[in-house]
Amino acid sequence: MARHFPGTTAVATRNKYEILGADVPEETLFKGDLLVASLSESPRSVNSIYYYDDVGSSLFERLCHEETYYLFRTEKDILAQHATSIADITGPISIVELGSGNAEKTCLLFDAYVKQHGRTFYAAIDINRSILESAAENIFSVTTDLDFLGIVGTYQTGLAQVANLTGPKLLVCLGSTMGNMHDDELHDLLLSAQSALASGDYLLVGMDLDKDTKTLEAAYNNQTAILTNLCVLRHLNWRFDGDFRLFQFRHVAFHNKPLYRMESHLEATQEQTINLKNLDFSFRLDQGEMIRTEIMRKVELHAFHKLLEPYKFRPVQHWTDSSQKYAVSLFQLGADSTELDS
Ligand SMILES: C[S@@+](CC[C@H](N)C(=O)[O-])C[C@H]1O[C@@H](n2cnc3c(N)ncnc32)[C@H](O)[C@@H]1O
Repeated sequence: MARHFPGTTAVATRNKYEILGADVPEETLFKGDLLVASLSESPRSVNSIYYYDDVGSSLFERLCHEETYYLFRTEKDILAQHATSIADITGPISIVELGSGNAEKTCLLFDAYVKQHGRTFYAAIDINRSILESAAENIFSVTTDLDFLGIVGTYQTGLAQVANLTGPKLLVCLGSTMGNMHDDELHDLLLSAQSALASGDYLLVGMDLDKDTKTLEAAYNNQTAILTNLCVLRHLNWRFDGDFRLFQFRHVAFHNKPLYRMESHLEATQEQTINLKNLDFSFRLDQGEMIRTEIMRKVELHAFHKLLEPYKFRPVQHWTDSSQKYAVSLFQLGADSTELDS
């Protein structure tokens, strides 16, 4: 592949694809000082990035196939039905994905793009290097008419790298990943997305829609969801030489209806002191005290579209399933908020 990105080293595997940034020190991606700050706040929290070490990424793949976790299969069905329309609307374009995971659902888009527009370029940004290798395997089992570039990094570092790409772009963010972001994180992401794209480029976002508490709580309280949440502590122990004892915590996931979100927490079942030796940080937890590990926004479609308006992303079209559980929305970036209306 001829593309070259300054400031990164390519770790070429097979000649069909490239993964950049595998040599970036992990401390620059998983920032200990931010973790200490969030664990010192009240209420305490851990950024959801800590779900995604190799074990966490495999558990997420397993969660996607849990019966009660309707999100994955619903979004996949929507993409299967509408990938051709999406490819029709955007025309030939380079696809860039944020938090690609194993790209299983994105493969539906590749199929449509390659059939309609021929050879297509795809860049996947993910914090987890191994999952990008799985993405490559999934992609090349579907098509060889795709140039694949994996970028190991955060959304921000990855977006800064793809800003160099020339030609029209479609930025993709599936799996309700934007729903895991707090307001300030979403704001930063949308600003970075805006700078990485040009006027007329597209953004495709999959978001879970607000719904009844029973369905939502069932999705995040199955065995895999419980294990995935507890494994955040295992990840912290490994990365920061910590001493969280997993059996002294209980998984708690509930629908915070007024805030339009699900929340996952880990509740201390007894009073304890935690040490993260690599960060030279200790803190005490009371019995019953909770550490929030993730938020999952549940949106009303119109309100979500409005949220993106100040960033000049204008909704072009959206698709939902017949039960209105989930939505995939296509936006186009305007030079200003009104330009694309004219
Ligand atoms: C909710 S999963 C979605 C995966 C996939 N897009 C899907 O729809 O199944 C989020 C993905 O984003 C990655 N991720 C999480 N936080 C990240 C961050 N701050 N920067 C880059 N990637 C991140 C994870 O490794 C994971 O693969």
